[in-house]
Amino acid sequence: MKTIVITGGTDGIGAALARHRLALGDRVVVIGRDAAKGEALGAEIIAADLSLVAEQRRVVDLLASQYEAIDALVLCARYFRSHRHLTPDGFEACFALEYLSRFQLSHGLLDRLEAAAAPVVLNVSGPGAAKPEIRWGDLGFRRGYSGMEAQFHAGRANDLLGLGFAAEHPKARTRYVMVNPGGVASSFAGEYDPQTAAMVEQMKRTARPVDAAAPPLSAFIDKPPAKPLSAFVIDRPVSPRTTPDDDAAAERLQRLTLEALGR
Ligand SMILES: NC(=O)c1ccc[n+]([C@@H]2O[C@H](COP(=O)([O-])OP(=O)(O)OC[C@H]3O[C@@H](n4cnc5c(N)ncnc54)[C@H](OP(=O)(O)O)[C@@H]3O)[C@@H](O)[C@H]2O)c1
Repeated sequence: MKTIVITGGTDGIGAALARHRLALGDRVVVIGRDAAKGEALGAEIIAADLSLVAEQRRVVDLLASQYEAIDALVLCARYFRSHRHLTPDGFEACFALEYLSRFQLSHGLLDRLEAAAAPVVLNVSGPGAAKPEIRWGDLGFRRGYSGMEAQFHAGRANDLLGLGFAAEHPKARTRYVMVNPGGVASSFAGEYDPQTAAMVEQMKRTARPVDAAAPPLSAFIDKPPAKPLSAFVIDRPVSPRTTPDDDAAAERLQRLTLEALGR
């Protein structure tokens, strides 16, 4: 029996993976804001708003105190906003939830991952897609916010998180896997303007059903890739780097992130 932790495991792709692994007999811990959705799955639940730095730290501490070993950490939490929103910590909300929480959990749970037999982090995001550059002078989108831009920007930050993680922990046995699940008709949690809502509904009509997204993700848990860092679109390998400057950019983003977190 493996122990699988899934952020955003209360809905969408994360919940589909939770159902899949529960059916295989694993212990599954889901993290989301809505405990009732997690209870309906029959998983263990941690209710938390992962866009808040204090909550990210609380969740890391709770998981570390409750589970000796974590076989898989699956990072799925996301929330779309057509209009820019700041968290009480002063971070742009998409950046805080979709990047900062993944940074904190990935690095913060490494000890528990290393205690497992074949540990893996699955960062479910968007490798393999063209991305904007990191907004070095404006991580919080003070200028030119759009919901889509913020999502792609967080995706780019997550690509660099993978590179930074592998560079920071060269001796780790934990495999870091960045996965683009392809178009999936998930819950698309968020607050959408009418135009974006219509686009999402249109996209859902041709996207794969959510349960179809679980088996390829599950396969990475059963058989983590040999390389410390890898990236896939569904199950097709792609390069974890999109430009020759990515390693330097990853180091720079890691430095800025630690500063922003006051560490
Ligand atoms: N669906 C696609 O077509 C697609 C394509 C490419 C990449 N992806 C990536 O796949 C991952 C999963 O996406 P999805 O489409 O399955 O997402 P989704 O259906 O929108 O589900 C989002 C999950 O995040 C949780 N969540 C939202 N705000 C939260 C917060 N503040 N704190 C904690 N949890 C929060 C939600 O649960 P609560 O309501 O309980 O908080 C829900 O479980 C994402 O990283 C996404 O970028 C998806």
